[in-house]
Amino acid sequence: MAKNAKLGQAKAAKNDEFYTQYADIQKEINAYIEYNPDVFRGKTILLPCDDPEWSNFTKFFAQNFEFFGLKKLISTSYAIESKNYKSDWQPTLFETENPRFKADKTRVCGKIFTLDHDTNASGRIDIDDLEWDYLEGDGDFRSTEVTALRDEADIIVTNPPFSLFREFYKWVREGNKKFLAICNKNCITYKEVFPDIQKNLVWSGRTEWAGGMWFITTNNEDVDKVVDGVMYKNTPSIWITNIDHGRRHQPIQLMTKSDNLRFNKKLKNQEDYFHYDNYDAIEVPYTELIPSDYDGIMGVPITFLDKYCPEQFEILGISLYLPLAKPKDLPKDKQGGPAFYLKDENGNYERLYARIVIRKKK
Ligand SMILES: C[S@@+](CC[C@H](N)C(=O)[O-])C[C@H]1O[C@@H](n2cnc3c(N)ncnc32)[C@H](O)[C@@H]1O
Repeated sequence: MAKNAKLGQAKAAKNDEFYTQYADIQKEINAYIEYNPDVFRGKTILLPCDDPEWSNFTKFFAQNFEFFGLKKLISTSYAIESKNYKSDWQPTLFETENPRFKADKTRVCGKIFTLDHDTNASGRIDIDDLEWDYLEGDGDFRSTEVTALRDEADIIVTNPPFSLFREFYKWVREGNKKFLAICNKNCITYKEVFPDIQKNLVWSGRTEWAGGMWFITTNNEDVDKVVDGVMYKNTPSIWITNIDHGRRHQPIQLMTKSDNLRFNKKLKNQEDYFHYDNYDAIEVPYTELIPSDYDGIMGVPITFLDKYCPEQFEILGISLYLPLAKPKDLPKDKQGGPAFYLKDENGNYERLYARIVIRKKK
């Protein structure tokens, strides 16, 4: 394997070990509860690709078990020997001091944590009632064992390994499950994902895209900030889901075309919106610049999906998958996969990043 490919894989494996903050999970889940207080009532939730001994997903759902009215919580972890990136891993005291501890399984088997009844006669079901065991296999979400848990569950929630997002997405969708997951924002352009977004089968979660997300990391070679001794990494991550929430039904507040051209500094010196050279639509470089009174076809950046309201706009496609003809006199350095082009008065081409094609709903 080439050196760069190896380095790329090593980096991807380290990025698979980012851990989600409690407050981020709480903020996102609150949006679904606000929209439908019974969204989790009577449901079995599976948290795959987790580390239940200290994962904030397991903690959050276990703490809210009764409040959400859950039927069952299942959480699984991936064996250390199967991980591509191993920091200084040691089994926790929780595991080694437990009668279930098995030295021959601790490194090679995944674990399963379940919560569905009051085990300690405290009168309530909470985090202290979590029961655990080793899985037969390593806890790979693609295994028959974890796939059977997927099939048992109503809702899958996790921050899956970034390097396996495509596979994870296919796995969840094949199971025909409700889900909520974290992914890199570019994942919405994947050919496995975008058609679902276009059909309004899947959408962005509640948390706004701007600023990315801060994850806890154990990789001290790649840290963006340290707070109280905890290392954090910021990545352009978003939540993706097929569970409904209120924000996506709020139309974006927009100005007319002429007001945008007069007042918005981002269109300074422009007499009109630009029109693509190789597609019949106007270029809208920021979501806030979508003209409220324009009925034609528009291209918008993928960040539009952060604000997208399906009652206000319809999605017609994405530049990446359109059968686009390239301008005939396009210089070599502007070549590439399908993209929209703008041509200036001097004949220079600008090749644009992925654009989502939208139209106002009548
Ligand atoms: C991005 S981390 C997130 C962990 C946890 N869900 C959280 O958000 O705090 C993804 C986890 O999935 C694990 N993992 C990697 N490959 C896996 C696989 N094939 N099956 C299951 N888990 C996997 C990683 O080791 C890592 O612990």
